[in-house]
Amino acid sequence: MPALASIRARFEREQPLAGLRIAAALHVTPETANLMIVLQAGGAELHLAAANPLSTQDDIAVALLERYGVAVHARRGADRATYDGHLDAALAAGPHLVLDDGCDLVSRLHTGPSQRLAGVQGGCEQTSTGVVRLRAMAAEQALRFPVLAVNDSPIQQSFANRHGTGQSTVDALVRATNVLLAGRTVVVAGFGNCGKGIADRARGLGASVVVTEVDPSRALEAAMSGFRVLPMAQAAAEGDIFVTVTGNRGVLTEAHFAVMKDHAILANSGHFDLEIDLAWLRAHCVDVRSGVRPQVDEYLLADGRRLLVLAEGRLVNLAAAEGHPPAVMDVSFAGQALCVEWLAQHAGSLEPGVYDVPPAIDRGLAELQLAAMGIRIDRLDHEQQTYLTSWRQG
Ligand SMILES: NC(=O)c1ccc[n+]([C@@H]2O[C@H](COP(=O)([O-])OP(=O)(O)OC[C@H]3O[C@@H](n4cnc5c(N)ncnc54)[C@H](O)[C@@H]3O)[C@@H](O)[C@H]2O)c1
Repeated sequence: MPALASIRARFEREQPLAGLRIAAALHVTPETANLMIVLQAGGAELHLAAANPLSTQDDIAVALLERYGVAVHARRGADRATYDGHLDAALAAGPHLVLDDGCDLVSRLHTGPSQRLAGVQGGCEQTSTGVVRLRAMAAEQALRFPVLAVNDSPIQQSFANRHGTGQSTVDALVRATNVLLAGRTVVVAGFGNCGKGIADRARGLGASVVVTEVDPSRALEAAMSGFRVLPMAQAAAEGDIFVTVTGNRGVLTEAHFAVMKDHAILANSGHFDLEIDLAWLRAHCVDVRSGVRPQVDEYLLADGRRLLVLAEGRLVNLAAAEGHPPAVMDVSFAGQALCVEWLAQHAGSLEPGVYDVPPAIDRGLAELQLAAMGIRIDRLDHEQQTYLTSWRQG
């Protein structure tokens, strides 16, 4: 992770986070561990909880605690109460800054004892669903400090959501099931950047991809990109493999299960496990064979059909594969580290609300990554610079 390594070297010298306590709720993976080590090198005291009970890699949690002294509150497979308790433990440290992935930490901070909010100066949010929740909090004037929407920065959208989620979700489908994608119909629900990445990668492996959407311009974009666009009611009967990635709830429900093929594969790569109505499946199936392969549960329906649900409907790319590759998280977390540094300097002068990542950070990240990839680009000359900022020349 060369971008993070270069930031670490500077942080060690400059100590921009000296004296700051940071509580984070992130997927406890090797890439997150690197971010923790960089922030620690900058002088911060760290308290890390999980952003999802199935994404925690226990060996990483232990290594962070024992070798680096990061207070880690996370265990793979934790139940809801334990997961919430871990968030509370991170918040009990009295953080100045919070790093969130999905807004569970910030939401808990605003619904728990009010004194917890007292010292919090600002935060960063890593994913689309978290930003949606934060904007809802800001609209209700409930949000009490400034938060940078790291997810919305152009480089994060392209690098993490499109390429990271795209590749790692398809990787998870293959690892979990060993399915041959060529010749299969893959239904992708949601054509945001995550859905675009998944649809592209599945097509690249020979699948026939169907997209479902509720947004007319996204649906049009899918159609113009050469994907079939159908309502889910129709796609449900055609699909061999389904991937939900909408950030919404109830995308695959009873009506869809009723017409799916025998042995259809169901996976979710959206943030929460609400996109596939597993509660209905659990209540109405005749039998569940858990773990027919790792991360695969087989639901037997009354008419004899079987539906294969991956990773209990949770983020499949993190539970059944390794999440975004380090090259993606390098850029993403280099952005987080620079945003934390920026917040340490500026949070005190900002009103509560959701803020875009400063463009200079985004540009700097793109430059770092291009350098790491050995790619050089052209520069505007003086004449072009003048032309682009003038209205007199046509
Ligand atoms: N798996 C990962 O590692 C990973 C990484 C980044 C983001 N995410 C999560 O993936 C989800 C999608 O992220 P995004 O950045 O693409 O978001 P986005 O909001 O840009 O795109 C979601 C799309 O889903 C569509 N949609 C909403 N409800 C729908 C429905 N019922 N049926 C069909 N389409 C529907 C929306 O119109 C939108 O176009 C979020 O929950 C986000 O947090 C996951």
